[in-house]
Amino acid sequence: MSIFNNHNEYGLLAKLFHWVTFIILIAQVPLGFYLVGLEFSDERIELENIHILAGITVFYITLFRLIWKFFNSSPSKTRSFFKGQVFIGKANHFLLYLCIFTITISGILKKLYMGETLNFIFLKYGFEKDNFVLADAYYEVHIYSNYLLLMLVALHILAVIVHHFIFKDKILNKIT
Ligand code: HEM
Ligand code: HEM
Repeated sequence: MSIFNNHNEYGLLAKLFHWVTFIILIAQVPLGFYLVGLEFSDERIELENIHILAGITVFYITLFRLIWKFFNSSPSKTRSFFKGQVFIGKANHFLLYLCIFTITISGILKKLYMGETLNFIFLKYGFEKDNFVLADAYYEVHIYSNYLLLMLVALHILAVIVHHFIFKDKILNKIT
């Protein structure tokens, strides 16, 4: 299988980006909700560090994924069954990307405005001054964009089910 996309399916790299992101996200969302319920402890600090590292990894993957997408045209659109179908699909994909960036960047800004230094894998960085009002505001964004992500992923999976079982157009072959 080629690493590049072709007319019929995504290439190896695009598939890897899609499924690695999926695996991290299905662990990351419940981990985040679990984390906030914990009392302050070593376990909580450790889990928070894992949550942050996984989140920053998703941020980098999504960045590389979009750069790769820009230089590598996507497979052709699946046959339309109703008007506006291609637009809905594109809007869902666009909002998924946007939501992943909103979640990761808001998480990063929350921690930076708390006055903490973050490990960005390639460098360590922290703001000179804290700002707890902004930290709280970005945390709200972090929470609500997670709810939005859950809705978009539910729609995304529903669309795949409808394609597979009702339109029977083998859409899954494009990404598996
Ligand atoms: C966290 C969960 C998921 C996210 C964030 C996600 C995100 C995305 C994104 C952004 C695309 C567009 C790729 C592009 O052209 O740039 C895509 C395509 C696709 N995804 Fe997912 N996905 C998720 C889970 C799933 C699951 C569970 C399935 C299968 C049941 C699936 C099946 C597909 C298929 C078939 C396509 C190709 C659609 C097409 O080109 O018409 N995805 N996904
Ligand atoms: C894919 C990426 C991410 C997902 C899906 C995600 C998801 C979540 C969720 C669902 C929560 C619980 C929210 C609540 O109900 O209060 C949470 C909490 C949190 N997230 Fe994330 N997150 C991601 C990335 C990040 C990043 C990159 C950072 C920081 C660099 C971060 C920092 C935090 C912190 C610090 C909390 C707990 C806050 C507290 O209790 O004080 N997250 N996350």
